[in-house]
Amino acid sequence: MLTVITLSDLHSVRRSYAGIVGLVPTMGYLHEGHLSLIRRAREECNHVVVSVFVNPTQFGPQEDLSKYPRDLDRDLSLMEPLGVDLVWFPTAESMYPQGYQTWVEVEAITRPLEGARRPGHFKGVTTIVAKLFNGVQPHRAFFGQKDAQQAAVIRQMTHDLNFPIEIVICPIVREPDGLAMSSRNVYLEAEQRKAATVLYRSLTAARNAYENGERDAEKLRQIMKDMLAAEPLAQMQYVSCADYDTLEELEEVTGKALLSMAVFLGKTRLIDNFVLE
Ligand code: PAJ
Repeated sequence: MLTVITLSDLHSVRRSYAGIVGLVPTMGYLHEGHLSLIRRAREECNHVVVSVFVNPTQFGPQEDLSKYPRDLDRDLSLMEPLGVDLVWFPTAESMYPQGYQTWVEVEAITRPLEGARRPGHFKGVTTIVAKLFNGVQPHRAFFGQKDAQQAAVIRQMTHDLNFPIEIVICPIVREPDGLAMSSRNVYLEAEQRKAATVLYRSLTAARNAYENGERDAEKLRQIMKDMLAAEPLAQMQYVSCADYDTLEELEEVTGKALLSMAVFLGKTRLIDNFVLE
């Protein structure tokens, strides 16, 4: 496993690769969710590149950029046994040098849900992902369904900007009690960690209602709200039952839909989602 920091080192390794190159973009502090993307890339590609970069431009001023957990040595020791070929950890100064002024913005699909609560977040995500794509020039890139809107936004950007890259979306990896794995779970205190299963429980209750024939989207949202309200340590930011493609709120579920939510446990903001097929 090689590691590179600079773009010129990345380019010289990249030039030596023949066959299918897969990229797994991450912000590090890897967990089983990230590792599932890497394993999938290992199965489907000749060369696997992982980027580790805590991208400052996707964090809002009130968000956790300076506190975001980092441990590159641990990340490298988790990646090595999976057969990763190359780890690229660029510096913030090289990605956004003085005078930087070019941004990638996707429009309608970034507006609801996370986009409405985290202004500028997706502009930071699409800009850095475009730069990672340009740096690595992968044939395939692997993302998690955990960040459902991010996956949709990146698919849109890839299509609109004609990146010749196949976007592969991998299922959410969960803890045994249902909590979706996230680098931010380390912020949770013991009581909050227990309470955090309320996201999974709420989504499950709404999905059960859907499977029993409920098609009124407002009722499905209400089921999730009621269950979240019953957990005193949890503070709902939003719940959504939206069209899977446009991410617009539904009145009635007629096709593929996305149940999603953002919930605070203390200062820690967690997101989760289920797809209704
Ligand atoms: P990060 O939060 O590190 O996540 C990297 C990738 O892992 C994302 O595609 C995310 O959806 C996926 N992932 C996280 N938790 C997961 C889980 N429990 N199951 C499956 N996949 C999971 O997302 C980012 O970084 C950044 O926004 C990035 C795309 C790297 C751009 O900076």
